[in-house]
Amino acid sequence: MAITITMGIQKGGCGKSTTTGVLAYLLSRDGYRVLAVDMDSQGNLTELLSRKPSNEFTEKSVLEAMQERDPEPYIVKVNDRLDLLPANNFLATFPRWIYTGETYLGKYIRYKGKPTLILDDTLDKIRHRYDFIVIDTPPSLSEQTTNALCASQYVIMMFECSNWCYSAVPNFMESVEGARVHGRHNTRLLGILRTMNDVRRNDAKAFNEMIEEDYPNEVFKTIITRKAPIGRLSLYGFEENNELNQALEQYENFYKEMMERVQSR
Ligand SMILES: Nc1ncnc2c1ncn2[C@@H]1O[C@H](COP(=O)(O)OP(=O)(O)O)[C@@H](O)[C@H]1O
Ligand SMILES: [Mg+2]
Repeated sequence: MAITITMGIQKGGCGKSTTTGVLAYLLSRDGYRVLAVDMDSQGNLTELLSRKPSNEFTEKSVLEAMQERDPEPYIVKVNDRLDLLPANNFLATFPRWIYTGETYLGKYIRYKGKPTLILDDTLDKIRHRYDFIVIDTPPSLSEQTTNALCASQYVIMMFECSNWCYSAVPNFMESVEGARVHGRHNTRLLGILRTMNDVRRNDAKAFNEMIEEDYPNEVFKTIITRKAPIGRLSLYGFEENNELNQALEQYENFYKEMMERVQSR
């Protein structure tokens, strides 16, 4: 049965989609069977892994998978060991569908059960086929995020070292706790990854230290700094990327730490 991990924080530009894509890539490179699930209507993870515009997945996405509660027809093969459940803009209609039953195509599909467990139910059909499922989330504590959290055993919180990210932390922690109580997987924080660090800024350094003081056992030792090759993953992806090693350097250290935590729990 797959181990499911959600990347989250309800703030944009913290490296969630990049980290989800890198983690999916590193796990599959290590020989694990991986499913990457895009729960953000921006479709960034979809574009990173598929190398196609997310609009190409209209009517062929995780939204339809959840509405039909059957992911099978919507799985996109990225490589031999990596699959993707893609997203596009219409995923933004997910809450409206949950509460009215009307899909963005004007059909009526009533969902029975808890609105926070729709993704969890959907993934149940395919969990046995993967070693890991990694889920990217939008920059809000929306239905997409609560569904992702409730479908996961583990959560990795992205911490971009800034004041507004710092203020997002308590509510995110509450959402993880909510998923632990209301979900079926004893959802818990696997760790806090400090991302997008600007090594020249003293305020960033201060926020790094503050989050470490607040959560000494949760922060990963590895800190991801701002590096052009990491930013350019969105341009070049993982295949035929001449600077891939430079892009992955720091993430390899995070990956080792993360796997040690997964294996020791
Ligand atoms: N370590 C990094 N160094 C430089 N650019 C980065 C880094 N991590 C992410 N980026 C870029 O910063 C932007 C925000 O990252 P992204 O992964 O999309 O964050 P989120 O999903 O939290 O909004 C993207 O353009 C991405 O390519
Ligand atoms: Mg994103």
